[in-house]
Amino acid sequence: MNERFENFFSEIYQDRWPGLWQALKLPVKHEMRRSLFFTEGLSEFYKMDPASIIVARSLNIQKDNFVLDMCAAPGGKSLILAEDLNQTGQLISNEISKDRRDRLMRVFQDYISKDQRQNIYVKGLDGNQYGLQMPDTFDRVLCDVPCSGERHLIENHSEFKAWTEKRSRNLAIRQYSLLSSAWLACKPGGRIVYSTCSISPLENDEIIKKLKKRREVEILREVDVVKNSFIELTECGYQILPDTCNFGPMYFAVMLKV
Ligand SMILES: C[S@@+](CC[C@H](N)C(=O)[O-])C[C@H]1O[C@@H](n2cnc3c(N)ncnc32)[C@H](O)[C@@H]1O
Repeated sequence: MNERFENFFSEIYQDRWPGLWQALKLPVKHEMRRSLFFTEGLSEFYKMDPASIIVARSLNIQKDNFVLDMCAAPGGKSLILAEDLNQTGQLISNEISKDRRDRLMRVFQDYISKDQRQNIYVKGLDGNQYGLQMPDTFDRVLCDVPCSGERHLIENHSEFKAWTEKRSRNLAIRQYSLLSSAWLACKPGGRIVYSTCSISPLENDEIIKKLKKRREVEILREVDVVKNSFIELTECGYQILPDTCNFGPMYFAVMLKV
């Protein structure tokens, strides 16, 4: 155990922490999700954490929307966004890392036929560029940022041993920057979903509070998609924690750009 990690999270989660810690150590419960694009020659099932499906659906995609998935690889959420667009509008699936972008492209090729993916574009920009280069452009932006991912972190002995609160604070700086870019790139009236697989409030509610202080944004609560009993309300968004359902962890917040 890393004592700094233990102290940090037991202070946040109090009596809940011992159970949450045990649940984080269990293998993630995945679902085999059948692709709506499935026809002969394509892969049929995609292994996913059901919490990811909820996050993608909370973007509430409508026909003909122009959609940006800012941090898209390996691509599970992008597949759901593509399904929801149902071959209308456009989906920009962006990923900065070349290796991960290759994986993202393979996912599209394996699950969606060439004809069915005419409206999907894979890009490799730094997500921070969208706000600068394409302001007020997208109807929907998914900002699924790199995060502490504690469930994976604790499996990596050396990384876990090196954990400090500073690591989470540093990530929070990058996350806020990506969310600001998402806000700039979104059309007024458009919807933004911010998400992480972290249990650290520094990377979750604190990021949304900072955006709310600096930008015109309306935080949506009780969105339709959020009807599952295991989804908990936080100050600004929603959390799915593995001690209640073995999915997640996942945090997400749903916003409208005013
Ligand atoms: C949490 S993962 C995304 C998971 C993905 N949305 C899915 O559901 O499969 C975050 C991704 O963001 C990418 N990334 C990190 N910094 C980025 C940046 N500045 N711009 C774009 N992508 C970035 C990482 O390489 C990583 O693949």
